[in-house]
Amino acid sequence: MPLATLVARADARLIADPGNHADLVVTGATLRAQHVLPGDLFAALPGARAHGADFADQAIAAGAAAVLTDEAGAARPALASSGVPILVHPDPRAVLGSMAAWIYGEPSLKLSVLGVTGTSGKTTTAYLIDAALRAAGRTTGLIGTVETRIAGERLPSGFTTPEAPDLQALFAVMAEQGVTHVTMEVSSHALALGRVNGTRFAAGGFTNLSQDHLDFHHDMEQYFAAKALLFDGRSTTEVVVVDNAWGQALVTPHTVTVSIEPGTDATWQATDLLSTPTGEQTFVLHGPGGRSAAAKIPLPGTFNVANATLAAAILDTAGVSIEDTVAGLADVQVPGRMERVYLGQSFTAVVDYAHKPAAVAQGLDALRARADGKVITVLGCGGDRDTGKRPMMGEAAVRRSEVLIVTDDNPRSEDPAAIRAAMLAGARSVGPAAGGEIIEIGDRRAAIIRAVELAEPGDVVLIAGKGHESGQEIAGIVHPFSDRDELAAAIRNRLEVTV
Ligand SMILES: Nc1ncnc2c1ncn2[C@@H]1O[C@H](COP(=O)(O)OP(=O)(O)O)[C@@H](O)[C@H]1O
Ligand SMILES: [Mg+2]
Repeated sequence: MPLATLVARADARLIADPGNHADLVVTGATLRAQHVLPGDLFAALPGARAHGADFADQAIAAGAAAVLTDEAGAARPALASSGVPILVHPDPRAVLGSMAAWIYGEPSLKLSVLGVTGTSGKTTTAYLIDAALRAAGRTTGLIGTVETRIAGERLPSGFTTPEAPDLQALFAVMAEQGVTHVTMEVSSHALALGRVNGTRFAAGGFTNLSQDHLDFHHDMEQYFAAKALLFDGRSTTEVVVVDNAWGQALVTPHTVTVSIEPGTDATWQATDLLSTPTGEQTFVLHGPGGRSAAAKIPLPGTFNVANATLAAAILDTAGVSIEDTVAGLADVQVPGRMERVYLGQSFTAVVDYAHKPAAVAQGLDALRARADGKVITVLGCGGDRDTGKRPMMGEAAVRRSEVLIVTDDNPRSEDPAAIRAAMLAGARSVGPAAGGEIIEIGDRRAAIIRAVELAEPGDVVLIAGKGHESGQEIAGIVHPFSDRDELAAAIRNRLEVTV
């Protein structure tokens, strides 16, 4: 895109020597100086610790065609004396999404982008949607916490929702590779930071809202306001689970509503919910116009029926038939979300990514329904994140477990014992009448082994918190660690010992 067009459309102020930019063309965008390719627009954004403009030397040496920044950035010596055209905008982060979209040819208009937001269920719902799209023969893209997929090719994910220039570049590559439908998780951070500005969503979906990320958003109203940005007109169709007050607040006359509560008038509903002893669930899906189908998901937890019904409603807006939808849902694999580990043992073992108080409570309630015996939970809290939720996590878990093993989960720069102490305080506040036994084992591997040793036939063992993650982050170093693999190893070991 010609620099002059970019400047005009973004309503930015241009600082440039006359003549050095007249026919300059911008061919890409990035906000990381070390990723600049020749011809890129380098977005030098103000950050919490540093200003991107301080890295302008590196960006310009790498061939940046122009720099987008704010007044403070333009005044930094590295930029002011660089001679490269500078686009000054009062809120460069907000305008960067649209600029990146223009530079990459507005790729979201060439795709059907299906976005899912909410506190929990984004990853699960995205996998459910993607599975059904593929069952219906579509070429798909997937962007989320676990990974990015382009037409079957897998790439690792950095953030749940990538930075705006990366996202637009990703869409452009997806469109080039013949992708027709992209399902993406849209985090509240991404919405608040403008990472999805410039993206047109064919459909936007809302799962639910509960306490989380309050270190970033301060209070629930502000958190809700961030999530609600997906429903500010950027989504052609709005699809909302109305089984909580926050969802109801999003409803307009055009909203496609979703509910699994009995007796509602929601557009999409699920009835006749049944869980099987192997952890699957069956239900009947009802859509508009009297359409219905028998559905099955290989996931425990009533909330997963809500996720599946939301997925079905979004798939309908994308033109997928209810038959293809139920075929896709039946075979979905969601990494680390209520994922069962079964090696022939007599108890149920599940890895789940629940790392928020509400998710721990709901996950355990869902598993309780399946337990003939005890519920044994292994749970930790991450360091350098919302400290207020630690006692709440301990409390939510101990109230719903016969045995709670408090362990470590990514202590990061914090003292792991102090994190455990905060969780233990919450857990102990419940008292033995309303809560289970509490055991503290910092070492996560040892904690998982102990949980498996304690399990008897009919029990449920839940390893909560890490889900699909492949590492334990301690003091800046990520040590390889997989709950799934550790749980499988502990079960295998116990089966061998018993035999
Ligand atoms: N609809 C839901 N309501 C409540 N809890 C849920 C729901 N869907 C999933 N969960 C729980 O939250 C955890 C995170 O789910 P995930 O699909 O990864 O959501 P997200 O991507 O929004 O973090 C799951 O492991 C599960 O315990
Ligand atoms: Mg996610």
